[in-house]
Amino acid sequence: MARKQRKTAESNLKEEKNRYSDCRVSPYRFIDLFCGIGGFRLAFERAGCQCSWSSDWDKYAQQTYEANFGERPHGDIHSVAVADIPAHDILCGGFPCQPFSIAGVSKKQSLGRKHGFQDEKQGNLFFSIAEIIDYHRPVAFVLENVKNLRSHDNGHTFEVIHSTLTVALGYTVYHKVIDAKPFVPQHRERIFIVGFRDWRYFEFPELRETGPKLSSILEPTVPDKYTLSDHLWQYLQDYAAKHKAAGNGFGYGLFDGLDLQHWD
Ligand SMILES: C[S@@+](CC[C@H](N)C(=O)[O-])C[C@H]1O[C@@H](n2cnc3c(N)ncnc32)[C@H](O)[C@@H]1O
Repeated sequence: MARKQRKTAESNLKEEKNRYSDCRVSPYRFIDLFCGIGGFRLAFERAGCQCSWSSDWDKYAQQTYEANFGERPHGDIHSVAVADIPAHDILCGGFPCQPFSIAGVSKKQSLGRKHGFQDEKQGNLFFSIAEIIDYHRPVAFVLENVKNLRSHDNGHTFEVIHSTLTVALGYTVYHKVIDAKPFVPQHRERIFIVGFRDWRYFEFPELRETGPKLSSILEPTVPDKYTLSDHLWQYLQDYAAKHKAAGNGFGYGLFDGLDLQHWD
């Protein structure tokens, strides 16, 4: 970036920071949609924000969320009128990924069921999010889903999502696939979609390449019930072989107590 441009960008940023520190007296309020056990809540509360509403219809997710945060999430998002959701500055939503993930699509296809937006139970939940954004006009949102959301239906699904957020709702949108491996011992790629109501320059943070090893989270002794039966072990090997032959990426890893040995 040329020196003059950089100076202008820096002084804009400074001005913006001053404006916020002058007028912002209360914490940002966020809503936690499809909250699961509260990954977003953990991060946003650590950043000083306050949760004003949460929702997840799964009984066990609700129990865990309540144990974690002392608040039971509301149930099915369809059962709540958009106007009854409290006002908020930031909307967070890790909407269900099965209709778009490689594994989910393949399972649905093998059962003769529809996937993507055609999946009537889980595929249209993005539009519930869009409806809430349209009504409440939060300052920002963060959505999360599987990496395959970008390429599902030859990119058409993502095109619809992107144009709904940008053209129809008027937000400035950034997205990036982020691998969680700097934080957890897992290669876990997810797409994050960040949007701002008013134009704003945004860059996703650069993350380091390496992270914790599996050995750092495993317990030295575990109850027998966690040992695979011979039957299940055979099933797993057959299942992996079947998918390998079909060119799918399913499988299992073998671990020698120090690190993952290989992936079948
Ligand atoms: C990918 S998970 C979100 C995980 C979450 N980000 C976390 O940190 O645990 C999607 C969640 O959406 C919930 N869900 C699916 N359909 C829903 C609906 N109609 N109303 C409310 N929650 C729903 C599921 O129960 C599931 O917990």
